[in-house]
Amino acid sequence: MGAGQIVAKAKRIYVCSACGASYPKWEGRCAQCGEWNSLREEAAPRAVEEAHRYAPLAGSSPVLRLADIDAHETSRQPTGLDEFDRVLGGGLVNGGVVLLGGDPGIGKSTLLLQATASLSRVVSVLYVTGEESPEQVALRARRVGIGDTDVELLAEIRLEAILDSLEQRRPRVAVIDSIQTLYSSALGAAPGSVSQVRECVAQLTRVAKQMGVSVVMIGHVTKDGSLAGPRVVEHIVDTVLYFEGDTHSAYRLIRAFKNRFGAANELGVFAMTDHGLRGVSNPSALFLSRHDRDVAGACVMATQEGTRPLLVEIQALVDGAHVPNPRRLSVGLESNRLALLLAVLHRHAGIATFDQDVFVNAVGGVKIAEPAADLPVLLAIVSSLHNRPLPAGLVVFGEVGLAGEIRPAPRGQERLKEAAKLGFGTALIPRANAPRRPIEGLDIWAVDRVDGALARVE
Ligand code: TYD
Ligand code: MG
Repeated sequence: MGAGQIVAKAKRIYVCSACGASYPKWEGRCAQCGEWNSLREEAAPRAVEEAHRYAPLAGSSPVLRLADIDAHETSRQPTGLDEFDRVLGGGLVNGGVVLLGGDPGIGKSTLLLQATASLSRVVSVLYVTGEESPEQVALRARRVGIGDTDVELLAEIRLEAILDSLEQRRPRVAVIDSIQTLYSSALGAAPGSVSQVRECVAQLTRVAKQMGVSVVMIGHVTKDGSLAGPRVVEHIVDTVLYFEGDTHSAYRLIRAFKNRFGAANELGVFAMTDHGLRGVSNPSALFLSRHDRDVAGACVMATQEGTRPLLVEIQALVDGAHVPNPRRLSVGLESNRLALLLAVLHRHAGIATFDQDVFVNAVGGVKIAEPAADLPVLLAIVSSLHNRPLPAGLVVFGEVGLAGEIRPAPRGQERLKEAAKLGFGTALIPRANAPRRPIEGLDIWAVDRVDGALARVE
């Protein structure tokens, strides 16, 4: 290394806008998260900024003995929206920081406006809007029928000004809409860049913990990588919620990915109406599509999200491929598992799909990450390939192993009970999930291998 390089010059680094990993030179793909074309050039943080960044989030304190610490169950403030409270684990916690992520236009601002309106009847609330003007927010509130509330509104994007307002007004709950519009003058980077988003969220988190305010921040999930996504700050905040669902359908799911104050993977369900979001307290049958007659390639799965069973239709379309590399596409399901399942299907059931395009989809924009979707996906594929509908009233779940075995899924009993309640007559399930006592109205077909499962539905 030449001596000349010791002289300080503005160093540039390349930061992934999806996950925040940084690299000394540009690369086409982020090695950390696998995202393509997500690296953006930024100025490397200066030494002062670094020191600032590593100040402790929760304030420093002397060393204590764990048993001597006077701690009590954190008090919660319910938001009054039952489905939202369910994913939060009962309500907002003092000094807790929540990140609400989701695609633009999915309803994040609407949800938080409704939540703050209801909260403002009990506690003081500050809504910081960096995206919409106060008039736009007020119009939306009137439209949703919550125009007359005590929510305080601040149209601001400068972090320092927001921190000042928090200091002066001392609200119990603050909403930041959104983290990508925030701008701290301590950094030279543009709003929405990884370093700005990280710095602003870290500062707000520190202040939230010091003052005991609950802060809820909105973060847009960005596809093109030009803005930093919520993932770059997931590790800083206490709770990470994601809004999912198809913007073309009315239903929206909120899922807790991380929750220091409650169960992760809990699910809340809303419907978007003309008057804002309405909670759906009994959503188990929402994600079934109604067919007039039995169709090939459709299989209903019983999935369990958090404490709540859901019945979701899995659809597959298998069609002769006209290119040497047949397409494999999955929407709402793990795409890596699709390749794996097709290999198991070939090896252990003798059904080849190497010359077929295979598409699979979970109805209604739901995302299913659990491996219990394997068996339903497999049956939907075979049903489409043979153009033969599965038996009417059938519900399925089960993980498929590489050796062709069917593995049990957690909370099988609850899934079966929900299916019986919704009128399903037959359940094809892993043998280990077979209930000890019969469930009224439900025939159980317990299987332990892929070929056995296929033979049952022939
Ligand atoms: P919004 O909360 O602005 O989304 P985000 O903050 O996540 O970007 O939601 C906008 C969408 O919701 C918009 O497409 C219109 C729709 N909407 C309704 O259908 N009904 C309503 O009452 C409101 C307020 C919005
Ligand atoms: Mg918004």
